[in-house]
Amino acid sequence: MQDLLNVKIIPQLKDNYSYIVVNKNLHSAIIIDPSEASPIINFIKENNLNIEAILITHHHNDHTSGINDIITFQKTEVFSPNSNINNTTRLVKDGEKVPSNFTNFKVLSTPGHTLDHVVYYDKQNKILFSGDTLFRFGCGRIFEGNYKQMHNSLEKIKGLSNYTNVYCGHEYTIHNLNFLSSIFKDFEPLGKIKDKILDQIKKFDSSMPFNLGEEKVLNPFLSLESIYFKDFMKNKDFDSLGMFQYLRDLRNNY
Ligand SMILES: [Fe+2]
Repeated sequence: MQDLLNVKIIPQLKDNYSYIVVNKNLHSAIIIDPSEASPIINFIKENNLNIEAILITHHHNDHTSGINDIITFQKTEVFSPNSNINNTTRLVKDGEKVPSNFTNFKVLSTPGHTLDHVVYYDKQNKILFSGDTLFRFGCGRIFEGNYKQMHNSLEKIKGLSNYTNVYCGHEYTIHNLNFLSSIFKDFEPLGKIKDKILDQIKKFDSSMPFNLGEEKVLNPFLSLESIYFKDFMKNKDFDSLGMFQYLRDLRNNY
């Protein structure tokens, strides 16, 4: 039954993503972070799906504004980490499982971007919805938490299986790669990677999903100790957290 599960990518607003996890056999769907309801509702209608749940990663409006219209169209449970998020029916906490007929999502608390931020990880189906915590070749801005919290949250994600397919909250991939080129001038594979991703975006209109194992080597926000960044680390008198802070600040101003 597992091979019947797939993830539909729904571009939203300027550069947001919502996602719909679908089991065609059961006609079931789980929606992640809806901002614009109409393309999601259209997809649900066209494919004759029942919405099993809506999962929310954090309270920012660009991840929640579609909830109301979707539950008006079809009533469903709304799992979120914050009771201030309108229409929340189930408040989720770190380590909890999301009850489902076709997925095995576990909630992982990842404060930093916001204090309430969680990600949803299905180890069995190799899926991570990372919201605005981990981006491809980057990470979220720290709005509510502190550097240490964000660093710990990324460490937590780093502990997940290399075989995970990651779906994040924004299409920032090329901008993140350009930032890396400007900082890590000796990071050789970067040109080739960028060409590959531009190709992917041309074909699929998206650089999602991405492989977590690769990300652990190529994304300095996740692994400053990987081979590409080691030398850069050596020249700075920082520990891992200090380095993360230095890099995050540079990215804020890029
Ligand atoms: Fe956000």
